[in-house]
Amino acid sequence: MHIGPYKISNPLALAPMVGVTDKFFRRLCRELGAGYVVSEMLESNPALRDTRLSRQRGDFAGEESPVAVQIAGSEPAWMAEAAVYNVKRGADIVDINMGCPAKKVCNKLAGSALLSDPGQVQRILDAVIKAVDVPVTLKIRTGPNPAIRNAVEIATMAEASGIAALAVHGRTRSDRFQGQAEYDTIRAVCSAVSIPVFANGDIETPQKAAEVLGYTGADGLMVGRAAQGNPWIFREIRHYLDTGETLPPPCPEEVLAVMQRHLAQLHQSYGEYQGVRVARKHIGWYLKGRDNSAEARMRLMRADTAAEQFAILNSYFCQGAQHARKEDHQCSNLSYPSRHSDHFLQPGAGAGSG
Ligand SMILES: Cc1cc2nc3c(=O)[nH]c(=O)nc-3n(C[C@H](O)[C@H](O)[C@H](O)COP(=O)(O)O)c2cc1C
Repeated sequence: MHIGPYKISNPLALAPMVGVTDKFFRRLCRELGAGYVVSEMLESNPALRDTRLSRQRGDFAGEESPVAVQIAGSEPAWMAEAAVYNVKRGADIVDINMGCPAKKVCNKLAGSALLSDPGQVQRILDAVIKAVDVPVTLKIRTGPNPAIRNAVEIATMAEASGIAALAVHGRTRSDRFQGQAEYDTIRAVCSAVSIPVFANGDIETPQKAAEVLGYTGADGLMVGRAAQGNPWIFREIRHYLDTGETLPPPCPEEVLAVMQRHLAQLHQSYGEYQGVRVARKHIGWYLKGRDNSAEARMRLMRADTAAEQFAILNSYFCQGAQHARKEDHQCSNLSYPSRHSDHFLQPGAGAGSG
């Protein structure tokens, strides 16, 4: 698959998720098999461009190309300006958000609320495409509500305007996240346009990924919530699509190693206070559904320092390893990643917490 001049190494994309898919998580997902990642949405409103949060979300330093940056807003002129601004800061691809149902965005008729005003969609597409000479992509839902599923109309308009690729979430704006995603509209979009389309919504297992790919005829798949705490889903889907076989889940040593590195990056980059708090939600997702994790999760949510977070995490996984050893489990040999791999950071390194 190509997006403009960029060859996408495999058709599995990490969905943009504000507050989740920062550059560390994007990098992790790439390492574990995602072929394409998109930044969290960045506000086009110039007044909000220079906040601490916007600067953090707009940090693409050191990211692998192509760097795809998503912008959100409803004013064509601001959207054009935001596109230029982000290209100057390193964006290789600009993605326009018309998929987000969040109130904050939609009250200002941005995100998926724009789908009810195709004229404004056209003005935004024209303004952004004219403003930058990098590929511009678009992320949409299937329409404003179940009575008006106008994704084919919007997709056709987008292709004619010069949009380089589309991502379609199989819900309408009014569905928010309720009910099941439907793939008939995505299938209709795929038949109507010849630019690459990513199918998105409720892709949670390799089997479902294969079904959605086959049914919709999409060029690629975009995975959001199922990657939270489970970046391994990309390699599992890839393996299944390539071989028809299911990979076993990562063993506890690998989960711990990935978590340690991820957390250390958050602590280091955001500073200990914010890093510990950002880490909490990822920890919650990583440990969800793991054996006997309720108590560790509760303690981890209360931990206030990087050192505490690592200590509780290590003790939880060590207990698991002892238990597994007793049962002669194949993953009983718990060891810290820093002993084996140069690119893993020592737990707590640089977090100022010892
Ligand atoms: C926490 C969260 C944040 C999101 N932020 C964005 C965003 O910044 N931009 C966007 O286009 N969609 C955003 N979405 C929507 C996702 O990209 C995706 O379309 C949706 O979650 C459906 O895919 P899934 O079922 O694989 O999660 C967000 C979703 C979640 C759960």
